[in-house]
Amino acid sequence: MTRLGVVLSGRGSNFLALADQVRAGSLTAEIAVVISNRPEAPGLTAARERGLTAVSLPSRGLDRETYDRQLIEALRTHNADWVILAGYMRILSAAFVRAFPSRILNIHPSLLPAFPGLDAQHQAFDYGVKIAGCTVHFVDEHLDHGPIVMQAAVPVDPLDTADSLSGKILLEEHRIYGAAIQRLITTPWEIQERRVVFTRSTL
Ligand code: GRF
Repeated sequence: MTRLGVVLSGRGSNFLALADQVRAGSLTAEIAVVISNRPEAPGLTAARERGLTAVSLPSRGLDRETYDRQLIEALRTHNADWVILAGYMRILSAAFVRAFPSRILNIHPSLLPAFPGLDAQHQAFDYGVKIAGCTVHFVDEHLDHGPIVMQAAVPVDPLDTADSLSGKILLEEHRIYGAAIQRLITTPWEIQERRVVFTRSTL
């Protein structure tokens, strides 16, 4: 069974959606560990409540390289095959990216490459886009930048506010993150330049 190492900093709704999908059997993986760099993250409490292995690994006061070494060690201790970033609010070092080649995923609440960085939903709303969305992508050393695995579009309704739009995007995040992971762990794929190519179609 593929072992997922979930890394988060906050609320953890994407993690919980993955945990639900694991429980339901639509995601055929196990959550090996949930790690938070913020000890007070609600996502960490939720993981404990579900009886999952939850590790608090505070990043405060540590430089990126030092912290990332600890994070790599914690993920290896729990034999994580994939690193699943789920609202992890730190940029990863090159050494971390090299430690898990093509095995780190992130979910971002915009249709990348539009609106990388913080508050992407508000950025998109303020820009006036008619189609917003979210992206599951591989992680490289640049912010919100690696090859795209899956995206979902969310039409912006004239009555939407930035907050209502964020809620609609979040529902799509919860749907496609697990779907993207399931596809990657069950069907052959390769990365050609920037393109994630599934080499056998799944109908
Ligand atoms: C999500 O919007 C995700 O796209 C972004 O951070 C947020 C995390 O939310 N990377 P949650 O902690 O999963 O609820």
